[in-house]
Formats: sequence, structure tokens, C-alpha cells
Amino acid sequence: MKKSSPTSRSGRFAGGPAADVAQFTESISFDWRLWRHDILGSTAHATMLQKIGVLTQAELRAILKGLDTIAKEIAAGKFFWKPELEDVHMNIEAELTKRVPAGAKLHTGRSRNDQVALDIRLWLRDETIELCLELMDLKKALIELADKNSEVIIPGYTHMQRAQPVYFAHHLLAYVEMIDRDHDRFDDCYLRMNVCPLGSGAIAGSTLPLDRELVAKLLDFVDLKTGKPRVTQNSMDAVSDRDFAVEFCSVAALLAVHISRLAEDLILWAGAEFNFIKIADAYTTGSSLMPQKKNPDIAELARGKTGRVIGNLVALLTLLKGLPMTYNRDLQEDKERLFDTANTVRATTRLMAAMLRHTKVNAVACATAANDPALLATDLADYLVRKNMPFRQAHHVVGAVVALAEKSGKPLNQLTLAELQTVDKTFGRDALGVFNLKTAMAKRNLTGAPGTKEVAKQLARWREQLAQ
Ligand code: ARG
Repeated sequence: MKKSSPTSRSGRFAGGPAADVAQFTESISFDWRLWRHDILGSTAHATMLQKIGVLTQAELRAILKGLDTIAKEIAAGKFFWKPELEDVHMNIEAELTKRVPAGAKLHTGRSRNDQVALDIRLWLRDETIELCLELMDLKKALIELADKNSEVIIPGYTHMQRAQPVYFAHHLLAYVEMIDRDHDRFDDCYLRMNVCPLGSGAIAGSTLPLDRELVAKLLDFVDLKTGKPRVTQNSMDAVSDRDFAVEFCSVAALLAVHISRLAEDLILWAGAEFNFIKIADAYTTGSSLMPQKKNPDIAELARGKTGRVIGNLVALLTLLKGLPMTYNRDLQEDKERLFDTANTVRATTRLMAAMLRHTKVNAVACATAANDPALLATDLADYLVRKNMPFRQAHHVVGAVVALAEKSGKPLNQLTLAELQTVDKTFGRDALGVFNLKTAMAKRNLTGAPGTKEVAKQLARWREQLAQ
């Protein structure tokens, strides 16, 4: 009998695949990226195989040494990947078996179906941890910029029209809230990816007495509280489920959407029309034609890349839609989408943080914009409410005051008391006092409002939370 060779075709097939078939079906060009986790998984599987008597101590030692050497070669860029061996799993196993005869026992009780499910989970766990650290840093960068400009007030906008004054810090903290919820969502999705599928075989587990719990423990698939191993509970689900990947891509899409909104604000603020911020040269680009241009390309790309992150989520969902049980080769298409999403959101998160750390606020331009008295028209209505006028009526009265100011070509706060009283007698001497921006900001002290004390409190809360 021919010596067993670790390919999916040995025995059953007369020859190799046609050249264009190999090219069409290979995944090594992108799944090589899973090598570290593939080797980690094989190490745990081999350790378990020795415990249950499939491998001798010596065979285990030889396999572990062989895997370690291969890992070093890959890390050093000295490993030769063969497309004809399809994927990362086959490449590593074939090379191991060539060097270590006991390598032929490594695939005992294992299929590439549960192996790839394992590798992606292991890989995604690491990516999620790294991304969460990067999100933490982005939150910190936002807080730092808010802290540095804690006195700065800008107009807040609705419908892109000036609405009410807010602290610049309050505006940035809105993004900290969003990104913090995304961070929570990643933490939560980690819990569901942190379950070990190995032992599910191709579809139906194995007749061999594999110790799934041991493998799970070795790979740290444990309940974070109890330390108990967590293994998948249905072999068919385990080899065909990719919802942990969909979940990651969906949270990533939401994160990208949040970052795109921040990016859009920064782009607007950096323009001459607003002139609220200046992004350092190193984080902008020039124009090939217009010498005066300084473009916020990082923010624009952060906004633009959101498209591919959303696209990746849709691609994954479409890939899974109507897919019959269990593993189908379609699933190989999951990786590029997942890799691209992780690459994109991680890079975007890092670059946004770096750019924020190289952004200066133009306090003068902000003050000029924030001093528009129209921003305090609602405060004038509140003044009337305090004098017992029903809010609907107060809204109407102040509307008439705004019209009067417009007609007389004066800013709202330049109207005289006599002029105010032509609209309504309720206005007293103290009415014009509402246009003092400082006092106005001191009054907004509801939880979550952009008032002086409240924003300081929120900033302190975040500073403390992020220091941990
Ligand atoms: N390269 C494959 C993938 O990424 C590995 C699993 C292949 N399994 C199979 N039965 N052909 O999905």
C-alpha cells in the first residue's frame, strides 16, 4: 500500500486537480494568515491524542518539535507555501508529516471542517482583544482632546443648522459613548466566539474517545468566571456555524459607522467654513494641482472604508443565507471578508486616534461661532416659562422676537428691552441676561446635558474609567 500522504485526494483520486481547478479552490493565498492558530490548535490536539493513547510520548514530542520548527520557519518567512496543497491546514500538516512520520497521526479524529472553525475562532479571539485595546486608546485620544479644550464652546447642530451651544468636550464625549458601547458589544461577542469546536469532526464527531474538554482547556476556551471548559454542543452546528464571525463583522460595521460620523465632523470642522480645528501636516495630504490644499484624507478614508466594512457584513450574511447543513466549501469565502473587516477597523481605529492626538482646536473661531446669540433663543423661551408662560406661547413669542431682530438687522441680544416688550410685556430687565453664554452654560446641569459642571463630571468619569 502507498504510504499515507496528507492530502484530501490521496487514495480516492487518480491524479491531481486540473490547474485552473487548483487555482479556483485554493485558499492558501489568504488563509496562510491563520498559521499561528493552526499550529496552536494542532499542538493542543496532539497533546490530547497522547493523553488518550493515540500517540506515544515520543511521537508527541516529535510532532511538537516539528510544529515548532515549522512555526519558526513561517515566522522567518522561510516556509514555502504550496498552492496545490489548498490551504494552511494541509500545507502545515503535509510538511510536518514529511519531516516527522508520526505527523500522519495528527489528523486523528479531526477534519479540516472543525479545524478551520477552530482556527478562525482562535484568530478572531486575538483580533478582538487587540481591537478592544485600540478602541480603548481611541476613547483616550478623544478624552485627551476634550480635556485640552475643556473651556471651548461650539454651536451644536441639528439639521446642520446652528441649534444650541455645547462644550466641544461634550460633542467629543458623544463619540466616546458610542465607541464605548461598541467596545461592550465586542466584549459580548467574544463570549460566543470563545467556545471550542474541535472534536466535531467533519460533521458527526468521532468514534474515538477524544477529550474535548482537555483541548478546550489547553486553548483557553474556558468560562471567564468559572474556569470551566466551553465546548460546542452540536457537531453539525459547530462545523457550519459562522455566526461568531457575522457578529464580529456586524459590530465592526456599527463601529465603522460611528467612526465615519466622527470623521465627517472632523472634515467639516477642518474646512475654512468652520475652521474649528487644524489637523497636523503629518496627518493630512496635499493636492497634486492646487498648492494651497491640505486635505483631511485620513478622516475621508475612515469614512470611505466604512463602505467595505458594511459590504463585508452583507457578503457574509449572503454567503450563509440558505446554505444547507453542514460544511460547504462556500464557507471558505468567509475568511477574506473577515480578515478585511478586522484589518480595516483596526487600522481605522489606530489612525483616528493618532490623528486626534495631532489635532489642534482653534479656540477663537469656536468662540466666534458659539457667541451667536440665536443659539440661546430657547433659553429666552425658558426665561418666559420661568415667568409662568406656557411653553407653546413662549416659543411663539420668541419666534416673533427672532423675526423682529431679523427685520431690524440686529443680533438677538442687541434688541432693547422696549423692543422686546413690543412683542410681549412679560419681558423684564433681566431678559437680556439669558444671552450671557457663561451663565447659560452653567444652567445646563441635567445629567447628560452640556452644562459646565455636568461636562466636567462626565470628563472626570471617563478619565477615571479609562485609567483602569
Ligand atoms: N480551506 C477550507 C476552508 O477555508 C478548509 C476546510 C476544507 N474542508 C473541506 N472539507 N474541503 O473552509
